[in-house]
Amino acid sequence: MLIRKGIVILCSLLFIVFNTGARDITIIPLPNECISSPEGFLIDKNVPVIAGAGGRSDTSVERLKTFIKKRYGIDLKKVVGSKGIRKAIWFEQDPDFLKEQYRLKIDASGIRIVASGDAGWFYGLQSLYQILPEQLPIGGQGAAVWVQGIEINDKPRFGWRAFMLDEARYFKGKERVKVLLDEMALLKMNVFHWHLVNDEGWRIEIKKYPRLTQVGAVRRSSQIGPLKWKSPIQSGEVHQGFYTQDDIREIIRYAQERHITVIPEIEMPGHGSAAIVSYPFLGTTKKKFEMPTTFFQKMDIYDVSDPRVFEFLTDVLDEVTNLFPSKIIHIGGDEALQNFWKESAAVRAYMQENQLNTTGELQMFFMNRIIVYLKQRGVRAMGWNELLGHRVHDYVAASDAKSTLSLSGNPIVHFWTGDTALLRDAAAKGYDIVNAYSNDTYLDYDYEQIPLSRAYAFDPVPKGFDERLEKKILGLGCQMWGEWIPAVGQMQYMIFPRIAAYAEVGWTRIAQKNYEGFRQRLQIAKTRWARKGIYFADM
Ligand code: ACM
Repeated sequence: MLIRKGIVILCSLLFIVFNTGARDITIIPLPNECISSPEGFLIDKNVPVIAGAGGRSDTSVERLKTFIKKRYGIDLKKVVGSKGIRKAIWFEQDPDFLKEQYRLKIDASGIRIVASGDAGWFYGLQSLYQILPEQLPIGGQGAAVWVQGIEINDKPRFGWRAFMLDEARYFKGKERVKVLLDEMALLKMNVFHWHLVNDEGWRIEIKKYPRLTQVGAVRRSSQIGPLKWKSPIQSGEVHQGFYTQDDIREIIRYAQERHITVIPEIEMPGHGSAAIVSYPFLGTTKKKFEMPTTFFQKMDIYDVSDPRVFEFLTDVLDEVTNLFPSKIIHIGGDEALQNFWKESAAVRAYMQENQLNTTGELQMFFMNRIIVYLKQRGVRAMGWNELLGHRVHDYVAASDAKSTLSLSGNPIVHFWTGDTALLRDAAAKGYDIVNAYSNDTYLDYDYEQIPLSRAYAFDPVPKGFDERLEKKILGLGCQMWGEWIPAVGQMQYMIFPRIAAYAEVGWTRIAQKNYEGFRQRLQIAKTRWARKGIYFADM
């Protein structure tokens, strides 16, 4: 055997060496440091779980007890104080550990999870859950389960490891979202970016504006078919749905229990058709429309010259910020159809009044007002990279995009399109960036466009990036856009297994990553997904 106890090695190497049986490292994302141990540990009902850290680890103790009971039928006992105990499962605190850092040590004396607090213990447990065997234990249900020896010292490469779900196009509902949150937690992803609003659907109850969900959450038919945006085919059936504020609170709580922050996205100034259909005064044309039955219909845009629009959006944001504990709210900013502003006499007059020379300046002027509004409420805005005035679409004329304004309030830039020079420039200007470059991270792109290997190879820090600016890259997002995924299984097929690759991109240092090892480890994840009834692309 090449490796003996006490030798620190790359976890990916450990996989190669222990390429058989229960000793394989099966964890996704791959931990950053593993120390092999020939000793394992037998968990049975006599093994106490030591609640240390003055009660601060109680939640983790309960999590583990519940997991072991559910998977193996073994009732573990919680014990306070460890005097005279030699073999146990221990939760220990080390205040010097970073928030998400943990140590998981398994040897003949038991299982130790060390962290500075709940997030680290939680991630230590997620690793343990993936080491523990899927199958029934020795002697059948309720008896004992053997766990391989190992020491893992681990912490994430990036603090922002996000998955986005677009439910504006097709509502999926609480139970489907919970399944995704469970998987995110196991994959140590920590931001659920919830795209709740777009042209084709408004999915969040806003008490002051009930028509948003009475009207804006219902479509009589929807464009479907393989030609996508060019498709002449209609579904010919109604689909609808929205989250009440109680539903939202339930999801936030569920996510919190899994150390996931929920960041809602309220799109503006574009992608607002569902709101404009519900309240026609919000649009530039003031016309009544029906809910779009095709995608990106280019119907209208918020009339930012109308004071009622600012009032509406800030009312919505008041309810949203009251509901979501997140100190970051996503305000969209992408793909605004500024031509509607050019065509509106009221908007042109407003631009003149405010000495705004281009629609690009108008957009920035408006977004600045919203960003400052949020900031006054202690909330930081986040938006797609058009927020910076980037001209990334042919339908915006270069002359319209020109802007002499700059952004207020230090929003987070969600980079999705355009040349990476734009990302570099934003970092150099001091913006924090989440890299969600569409050609690498869009889960609605099929497996030919973004094969698993490409998803795995994505690096949120572009090649040749100035090292001094690396900390400006907070991490990554992967985005499940919903236009072409009416069905839940179809959605899951696009997400799984690529989400596991993105999880590893976010967590594991580059030197540790290994695509072949990842594919091997994926076998265990696939077994889990199959057991849970999650559809995945089996490649
Ligand atoms: C986007 O894909 N419109 C952000």
